Amino acid sequence: MNSLERSIGFCMACLILGLSRLAFSAELSPQFGELLENGLRSKGPVQLEVFLKLDPIQKFCSESNVNIQSDKAGLLMSEALEQIQYPNDGDYVGDWKEGERIAQSGKGLRFNDSDDTKNGGNCYACHQIRKEELAYGTLGPSLYQYGKLRGYSREVLRYTWGKIFNPQAFLVCSNMPRYGHKGILTMKQMRDIMGLLLDPESPVNE
Ligand code: HEC
Repeated sequence: MNSLERSIGFCMACLILGLSRLAFSAELSPQFGELLENGLRSKGPVQLEVFLKLDPIQKFCSESNVNIQSDKAGLLMSEALEQIQYPNDGDYVGDWKEGERIAQSGKGLRFNDSDDTKNGGNCYACHQIRKEELAYGTLGPSLYQYGKLRGYSREVLRYTWGKIFNPQAFLVCSNMPRYGHKGILTMKQMRDIMGLLLDPESPVNE
């Protein structure tokens, strides 16, 4: 995937995020809701009724006076934390080569994808990961030498898995996609991405 494709994929993600925020305002203005429903249509994996329906965290984060220190924020995060599904110990780290392919791929969940397109993680849209890949976004922190810097303890494995499964369980209005929680990536795909970040043999940790 080249950097142009990645930027387009990323813009689509922003558009979808933007649309769901618009939908929230649509609850305030019925005319605007009607305009959205008439002007847009579902296509492929993009089902508007799914994207325009906000879950409690999306609603909370769409309010104009969000306070991420509030009790409500704490409650939403602890609920999200409880819902994270972890693999068995010893089964966190998959194939880093496959993980690199998934991190590179921005495919899936776009208007022009078919229903059976295999979703990618599009991690490079926001993170530096391998040193060799120069086309990356900087919305998120660099993940280069992720394991080398943090170590490979059970705590690091559990935290990283949880963060990929549902970033909003750790930072309520995080912009990072909820890969496990929303079923964007499978458990196997998440293990392979864990391999990219946390296998001592992965070039990320050279
Ligand atoms: C839309 C942008 C975006 C995408 C795409 C994205 N992330 Fe993130 N990520 C962030 C941001 C922003 C943060 C830091 C703030 C936060 O926690 O939300 C972050 C934080 C993280 C952290 C925690 C780092 C630390 O030091 O605690 C990990 C691990 C991570 N991302 C992994 C991934 C992986 C793996 C993927 C792909 C499967 C991915 N991210 C895709 C935006 C993104």
